[in-house]
Amino acid sequence: MDWHTLKAQAREKFRGACRVCPICNGVACAGEVPGMGGLGSGAAFRNNVEALAGFRLNLRTIHNVHTPKLSCRILGLDLSLPVIAAAIGGIAMNMNGAMTEEEYAAAIVAGCRQAGTIGMTGDGPKPEVFEAGLKAMAAGLGPAIPIIKPRDVDKIVELAQRAAAAGAPAFGIDIDAAALINMTNAGQKVGPKTKDELAYIKQHTSIPFIVKGIMTPDEAEACCAAGVDAIVVSNHGGRALDHTPGTAQVLPYIAETVKGRITILVDGGIRSGADILKMLALGADAVLIGRPLAIGAVGGGADGVATVLNKFAGELRAAMVLTGTADVAAVKEDILW
Ligand SMILES: Cc1cc2nc3c(=O)[nH]c(=O)nc-3n(C[C@H](O)[C@H](O)[C@H](O)COP(=O)(O)O)c2cc1C
Repeated sequence: MDWHTLKAQAREKFRGACRVCPICNGVACAGEVPGMGGLGSGAAFRNNVEALAGFRLNLRTIHNVHTPKLSCRILGLDLSLPVIAAAIGGIAMNMNGAMTEEEYAAAIVAGCRQAGTIGMTGDGPKPEVFEAGLKAMAAGLGPAIPIIKPRDVDKIVELAQRAAAAGAPAFGIDIDAAALINMTNAGQKVGPKTKDELAYIKQHTSIPFIVKGIMTPDEAEACCAAGVDAIVVSNHGGRALDHTPGTAQVLPYIAETVKGRITILVDGGIRSGADILKMLALGADAVLIGRPLAIGAVGGGADGVATVLNKFAGELRAAMVLTGTADVAAVKEDILW
């Protein structure tokens, strides 16, 4: 399946929930939450895309990098490229019923496995959101990394243990959902966590623990102190707090503080292989991609997800050759102009 057919099919199925724009930058869908947009003015979503666009790559072709290495090892997992599918939940509500929660999780989990990588699955006020990820694993479609809402710590521990029993190689919490309105409206308590609470979750679970939604060096440092295995530098695709900076802007400061002591993942506005390479140069070990893979899932199910991932892999390979980058695990800062 080609990218253009995939986009046309997705546009039809979304029925306006996502316009599948030529550039997915949060302009057309500003304020559309529920929906696929960014919260409020949509600035945080736009800032992600603009921040990445603000970095330029140095073109270098006098070298011997012909076949760059895209594969990498992240949290003990061998991945064919440094890309993980971001958790996306609330499919019926956000995507105009284009898919069910279960169909979406199945497409992400199977499509990621097809492309040699792994996907995260979501959580939400309805139990079916979290269950969809576990069901995809139980159906043998592949492993998944469930991302649990920042519920009470004992509930997080309970869900993380269920995830581990279902075969998840890691789990996380999207700590930036601490004030998520659809959780509180449904009477489900979410909230910020202290460093001690993060340490408690780590101590009472058995698989690697990811904290998603870190935007400042001090909070990255707190995750290190709590024994967290990985952070995701993320503003939830601009859906948590309006007017946050782009993740590419804050990533270098976070990497300067904690690089080498904790796995650094990042998401927000990554739309091409060149964007992936920029994030690696800014200090990430790997990236998460959200909306483009949602377009893949809605447009073509598991095959659609794999098509988008393979497109990113091809673009990343070309960008590595054209910047003289041999290995995704050793991307030099001087590829940035
Ligand atoms: C419709 C929608 C639903 C989302 N649901 C979740 C979720 O359940 N859990 C979570 O951790 N993040 C969720 N996110 C945020 C993504 O995991 C990710 O951080 C974001 O989409 C990355 O930005 P990008 O879409 O520009 O790549 C959601 C994002 C969207 C667009």
